[in-house]
Amino acid sequence: MTFSNFYKKTREDRINILKEEQIISNESADKLLNNQTLDVNIAGKMAENHIGTFALPFGVVNNFIVNNKPYTIPMVTEEPSVIAACNNAAKTIGKSGGFSADILDRKMIGQVALYDVENIDLALENLQREGTSLLKLANEAHPSIVKRGGGACDISHEIINFEDTSFLVVYLTVDVKEAMGANILNTMLEAIKPTLETLTNGTALMGILSNYATKSLVKATCTIDVSTLNKDILEARNIAHKISLASKLAQADVYRATTHNKGIFNGIDAIVIASGNDWRAVEAACHAYAVKDNKYRGLATWNFDKNSDKLNGELTLPMPVASVGGSIGLNDTVKIAHEIMNNPDAKTLATIIVSVGLAQNFAALKALVSVGIQQGHMKLHAKSLAMLAGANESEADIVAKKLTQEKHINLATAQQILETIR
Ligand code: HMG
Repeated sequence: MTFSNFYKKTREDRINILKEEQIISNESADKLLNNQTLDVNIAGKMAENHIGTFALPFGVVNNFIVNNKPYTIPMVTEEPSVIAACNNAAKTIGKSGGFSADILDRKMIGQVALYDVENIDLALENLQREGTSLLKLANEAHPSIVKRGGGACDISHEIINFEDTSFLVVYLTVDVKEAMGANILNTMLEAIKPTLETLTNGTALMGILSNYATKSLVKATCTIDVSTLNKDILEARNIAHKISLASKLAQADVYRATTHNKGIFNGIDAIVIASGNDWRAVEAACHAYAVKDNKYRGLATWNFDKNSDKLNGELTLPMPVASVGGSIGLNDTVKIAHEIMNNPDAKTLATIIVSVGLAQNFAALKALVSVGIQQGHMKLHAKSLAMLAGANESEADIVAKKLTQEKHINLATAQQILETIR
């Protein structure tokens, strides 16, 4: 099989495989081989007080199946074992058909908050009556999204009281198509703000997109044949049972829930960054979603069905990502990341990302409830320790290999080993 032992090959061979498999073009392969990344002059136009560009490792996971289609997943991360773990999960879950993922909705919400509204009843009556004309006004402010088949489609309001202040908050829902929508929403909200002030006889505090993207939910699931978890079926069932217990613990204990979710974001951040999307927006949305029942909970859940011998995983998240706009078209490496995934549209990209989160959680839980996290993680972290100890490229693998055989896998041991081999 083409991708067999992919991770054991050289960087050059991996790039050539991606080229031969027509996952990337010759031109993209050349850029990867030459490590040609974000052009420094373009970078200077993207961020302020610019002094250079900043590099992070860029890797891929092969044969990651979502909705019956195999994808190669681009990942950017500084953390050892994240990509290996996702690869590991893709392999195991792939044996049971991979992931299924659905877009539950894909719209963004923005808000205009008003205060000092003296006659609330009259303000609400006016808002109710003028709903359609407010949507028209919003759409006139951003005609290009309407031309692409999207646009403002709903407006609602709520009174929110805090201490001695009463806010009248108007929510605008917009179909943003392939964009993430921040600019579209903000333009529309600023356009309707003066009219809202007139209609409510109040003062607008602000008009801004909400990152709590509850109308951009994506649900990923997988059903794993328990027999694939271990050669010994009793041990396989034990692992499945313990993964479902770990899932329960993450629902009940906030200390565990936070780490459970951190593991999910090991994968999600890596692909969101690679795809040039706003990972702060994704993080903010998902952590707010984790507390939607007034308690911070683990986002992914696992249930072991003993009758069918299946382990069922589920992850639902707001995933407000884009396939165009922002910095996506400016960064060559981001363009290659999209090419690696066969240039998915925004909806498909969101389904891939949430599936990666579920995969990452599975790999971490499986390790945690069986051999423990250190065995696999430290084996891969050993290479970073070797480099930190001062090993050059040819020494690093030797030091890392010896280090994994030691009781204490740390920087001091790496330094001692390095001295013995020099
Ligand atoms: P293993 O079973 O000991 O190793 O897994 P293996 O050599 O038998 O390899 C099994 C498969 O893993 C391979 O299959 C690959 O798919 C993949 P093969 O292709 O050989 O048939 N694999 C790799 N892929 C790419 N590069 C590699 C590589 N090595 C194996 N170098 C492994 C070892 C690390 C994968 C496993 O122990 C694992 O998945 N551990 C979880 C590690 C993890 O979650 N790391 C994230 C950092 S820890 C953290 O921040 C999160 C946490 O706190 C979250 C939480 O608490 O929930 C844990």
